[in-house]
Amino acid sequence: MNKNLEVIDKIDEVFKDAKEILESAKNLNELEDNFRSFTGKKGRLTEILHNISSYSPEEKKIVGAKSNEAKNEIESIYNRKKNELSGNENKKFLNEYKIDLTIPGNRIERFHKHPITAVLEEASDFFTSMGFEIVEGPEIETTHYNFDALNIPADHPARDVWDTFYLLNGLVPRTHTSSVQARTLESKPLPFRVIAPGRCYRYEAVDATHLFMFNQMEGLFVAHNVKLSDLKGILEETVRHLLGAKKTRFRPAFYPFVEPGLDLDIECVFCGGRGCGVCKNTGWIEVIPCGMVHPNVFKYAGINPKEYKGFAFGMGFDRIVMLKYNINDLRLLYQGNLDILNQF
Ligand code: DAH
Repeated sequence: MNKNLEVIDKIDEVFKDAKEILESAKNLNELEDNFRSFTGKKGRLTEILHNISSYSPEEKKIVGAKSNEAKNEIESIYNRKKNELSGNENKKFLNEYKIDLTIPGNRIERFHKHPITAVLEEASDFFTSMGFEIVEGPEIETTHYNFDALNIPADHPARDVWDTFYLLNGLVPRTHTSSVQARTLESKPLPFRVIAPGRCYRYEAVDATHLFMFNQMEGLFVAHNVKLSDLKGILEETVRHLLGAKKTRFRPAFYPFVEPGLDLDIECVFCGGRGCGVCKNTGWIEVIPCGMVHPNVFKYAGINPKEYKGFAFGMGFDRIVMLKYNINDLRLLYQGNLDILNQF
C-alpha cells in the first residue's frame, strides 16, 4: 500500500502542476505543447504509470482510477482553455483587421489611351471613312524627300523655315511629314488618297508650344480632276468633325510645294471669336496649312501635272490635341505624368 500511496501523491502533484501550467498558457501553441507534456506518450502522467504492471490487482484498481480521474480533469481544463484562447484569437484578429464585408471593392484602374493616340485614332477613322489610306515613311529622311522633291532646292531661302537637324551622314530627322508625300507620289499607283501621321523633328527653343519632336498628319489626294473646292469641302468637314468648329476661313499662304497655298483657320473655340490669349486677340486659330499640289512636285515624281491634280495638307497634330482638350502647354503631353494623363 506504501508504493500505492506514493504514486497517488505524485498524481496529485502532476495534476496540480498541469492545472497551473495549462491555465496560464498564453496562446494555443503553448497550450498544446504543455498538454502533451502531461498526457502525451512521454508525458509526466504517463511516465508515473509505466510500471503499473508490477502492482497488485487491488493497487492497479486504485491507481488506475486516480490517474483516469486526473487525466480527465486535465483534458477538461485543456478544452476549456482552448475554447477561451481561440475565442480570444478570433476577437484579436477581427479587432486588428476590422474587416467590414459590406465595403465595396477597390476599382481596378483600366488602361486608357494617351490623348495623342486617341485623337490620332479618331482622325484616322474619319479619313479612312472617306476613302483615305494610311501610309508611312521613315523618320530619318534624305534631304531629297524632305526638301528637293518638295520643290525646296538647297539654295532656296524657304529651306531656312524648317530648323533642321543635320546628321553627320547627311540625312535629316524629317522636319515634316510632307516627305511622305514625295515618297508616296513616286511609288503609289494613281489615283490615291492618303494620310501620313508621324513624328517630326526641328531644332527649336523649347517652350509651351514648341518641342524638338512633335506630331504631324499629312494628307494627299491625287486624281485627274481634284479641285480647290474638294480641298475646302474635305478640310472644313475635318475641323468640324475633330474640333467642333463652327466658323472657318481660308487665307492665302506660301508653302513651296503647293500653289496656291492656304491656311485654314477656325473661329477661336475658347472665346467664340471675341479675342483671347489663345488666339492672340484675333478671334481665329490657324489649324491646317494646305494647298493644291505644285506642278514641280508632280514633275519630280514623274507625274504629268496636266494629267493629274491634287491637294495636300499637313496639320500640326499636337496642336489639334491641345485645342481639343484645352491643354495650354505642349510639354504636358510628353512628360508621362500620370496625374495629367489620367484626366483624359
Ligand atoms: N509641311 C508644312 C510644315 O511643316 C505644312 C504643310 C503646308 C503641309 C502645306 C502641306 C501643305 O501638305 O500643303 O510647315
